[in-house]
Amino acid sequence: MAKAWTGSRIDLHIDVAAASPAKRRAALEAALREAIREGSLRPGVPLPSSRGLADQLGLSRGTVTSAYGQLIGEGFLTSRPGSGTAVADVRDPKPPAAPPHRYAPVPPRHDLRPGSPDLAAFPLRGWTAATRRVLAAARPELFGAGDPQGRHELRAALADYLGRTRGVRTSADRIVVTSGYHQNVRLVARVLKARGSTKAAWEDPGHHFFRGVAVDAGLDVRPLPVDALGAQVDRLTDEAAVFVTAAHQYPTGVPLDAARRRALVDWAHRRDSLIVEDDYDGEFRYDRRPVGALQAVASCEVLYSGSVSKTLGPGLRLGWLALPSRLVESFMEAKLESEPFTEGLHQAVLADFLASHAYDRHIRAARLRYARRRERLIRLLAEFPSLTVHGVPAGLHVAVSLPAEGPGEREVMAAAAERGLGVRGMAELYQDPGSAQEGLIIGHAAPSERAYPAALFALAGTLREAGVA
Ligand SMILES: Cc1ncc(COP(=O)(O)O)c(C=O)c1O
Repeated sequence: MAKAWTGSRIDLHIDVAAASPAKRRAALEAALREAIREGSLRPGVPLPSSRGLADQLGLSRGTVTSAYGQLIGEGFLTSRPGSGTAVADVRDPKPPAAPPHRYAPVPPRHDLRPGSPDLAAFPLRGWTAATRRVLAAARPELFGAGDPQGRHELRAALADYLGRTRGVRTSADRIVVTSGYHQNVRLVARVLKARGSTKAAWEDPGHHFFRGVAVDAGLDVRPLPVDALGAQVDRLTDEAAVFVTAAHQYPTGVPLDAARRRALVDWAHRRDSLIVEDDYDGEFRYDRRPVGALQAVASCEVLYSGSVSKTLGPGLRLGWLALPSRLVESFMEAKLESEPFTEGLHQAVLADFLASHAYDRHIRAARLRYARRRERLIRLLAEFPSLTVHGVPAGLHVAVSLPAEGPGEREVMAAAAERGLGVRGMAELYQDPGSAQEGLIIGHAAPSERAYPAALFALAGTLREAGVA
């Protein structure tokens, strides 16, 4: 059988002999498409008649005619009466690669950015065992869209876990399972709009990314300044909601002072405003003085938000809201209108993982590991006495501010980039540039155990090279 066709003005090799008879038409189409895309068949080049090509390739004429027809339909070939079949002018034969987007995951060589836990310590064995158990017992409904409020067994397991570990007063019927804080912020925005006010306060400094989500979702976000006692709640006025990180302020790491906690709840109660408590890393407190959730003392005013992003991994996209009873219906309406469903299999696996206490065991091990890492980081930072370390021993990051004299944040960040070290600058986390402090937010969780010493070494080198005293 002929394997190649050499046209009058072109030299084109098409190998369709390797394909089984049933697949030769598809093979011919694919070969012509590829030749046109890569430019070896240029626009305007005439193709042989279907009979001629069929003879050369040892195919039936019908096979060639239908391949031509298909490619004419797709726009790769043209056919005009009297002038035969020719290559069309395919404008974009080889679409250029899309540029990498801003959040493309190209991790720095040494990753001390805040945000991610140690993914190398994901409890793979326990998660696999839980997945096996769930699948072995699966009923067909597991693969359906499911209850938009979340799987009941997960909500029940969360109510038990959050009550036990964070003092959260809730029950399965008051929890809504979501895909994490991103979705929680968007849902709060929808509910606020439905209640008639979009005024909201956001801690300053605060998580700039989530603040952006709130703004995008239509909230009128005002800065709520933060000092050494946490958010200055006496600055709240007529906002319909305030977003706080009460147990461990992001990024400064200070817990909200007890008197301010009371004042905040009083304010919300008086005004019928909502407190959104982002308890993003509440499990990780290292000095045996855990601050319970604010929701524990104000379950009517506080919308408690959490997710597995800091405990297991942000890739799972599983989170929750524990709501005051009176708001559950509004949140379900908001969820039904926007993104009703959350992936079901992982919900069932997390429910099993919680109920079997594998989650508790994982958290205990992670807490020990992160506590050790934090101590090492604090020891290293003590070698630079001009730095001020903020916050309590908790969480997965440490905030440090740079002294007024000496290198600024920009110089330190440039020296870090030079060494392939990822850290976050503090100043960009302020809404009000006038009050922005220069400093660094250093995450100690993301590297694996093996990579952590080298990351610390890179940090010390960076600080020295930048001239930090
Ligand atoms: C301050 C803060 N809140 C919440 C989260 C969790 O976000 P999500 O649940 O959308 O992954 C993070 C994670 O990085 C965080 O840093």
